[in-house]
Amino acid sequence: MKIIVIGLSGTLGKAVLAELSTRHEIVAVARRSGDVQADMRDIASLKSCFEKIGKADAIVCTAGSVHFGPWAEMTPEKFDIGLRDKLMGQVNTVLAGQAFLNDGGSLTLTSGILNEDPIQYGAVASLVNGALESFVRAAAIELPRGLRINSVSPTVVAESLDSFGPYFRGYKAAPAREVALAYSKSVEGKQTGQVYKVW
Ligand SMILES: NC(=O)c1ccc[n+]([C@@H]2O[C@H](COP(=O)([O-])OP(=O)(O)OC[C@H]3O[C@@H](n4cnc5c(N)ncnc54)[C@H](OP(=O)(O)O)[C@@H]3O)[C@@H](O)[C@H]2O)c1
Repeated sequence: MKIIVIGLSGTLGKAVLAELSTRHEIVAVARRSGDVQADMRDIASLKSCFEKIGKADAIVCTAGSVHFGPWAEMTPEKFDIGLRDKLMGQVNTVLAGQAFLNDGGSLTLTSGILNEDPIQYGAVASLVNGALESFVRAAAIELPRGLRINSVSPTVVAESLDSFGPYFRGYKAAPAREVALAYSKSVEGKQTGQVYKVW
């Protein structure tokens, strides 16, 4: 398969590359690195990126930022960072990417544990992850040509504990290679409308 991975240079992206590159052709996309550059906040940038790459069998997105911070300091602007980047960036990926997928192709997004198991400072992540999973279930019943869509919902990733560990006390971390298996299941399996929890 030809698989486009948005966010390949990141922690999860590298693990997805290690899992899938032995069996498939991978095209890397990010803002500053990769085979083709795109910013998923901008749908025109994504369309141009997909035009350069041409038809593919799967699109995987392991990108998306949100603001973490104290409740008392939350503002609409801080919510908007996550809404524009992790939420609408991935919605844009689906809207722009569907036309470039071969029949029966798949889209795999990334949500996360916090909509079901919230932490202090994580209100934006909880909101965005919940919205993404609702979007995946809805899109699955409307996508044309047998296209499939799923989301991977990781707990905190072991390789990210240096940065995120203090926020996730008491949570069991998952090695990135285990999270990558869920992307493999989505891309190489046949299910649609699923949220694969790696907790
Ligand atoms: N790491 C964890 O513990 C964990 C746990 C649960 C969920 N998640 C979710 O998993 C996703 C990936 O996390 P990660 O830790 O692997 O992130 P990461 O290491 O920060 O990597 C993010 C990747 O996405 C690219 N990127 C960021 N914003 C982009 C944009 N607007 N358009 C295109 N590419 C963009 C980055 O490259 P450029 O900077 O060059 O664009 C990079 O390749 C995020 O949605 C995160 O919320 C992570």
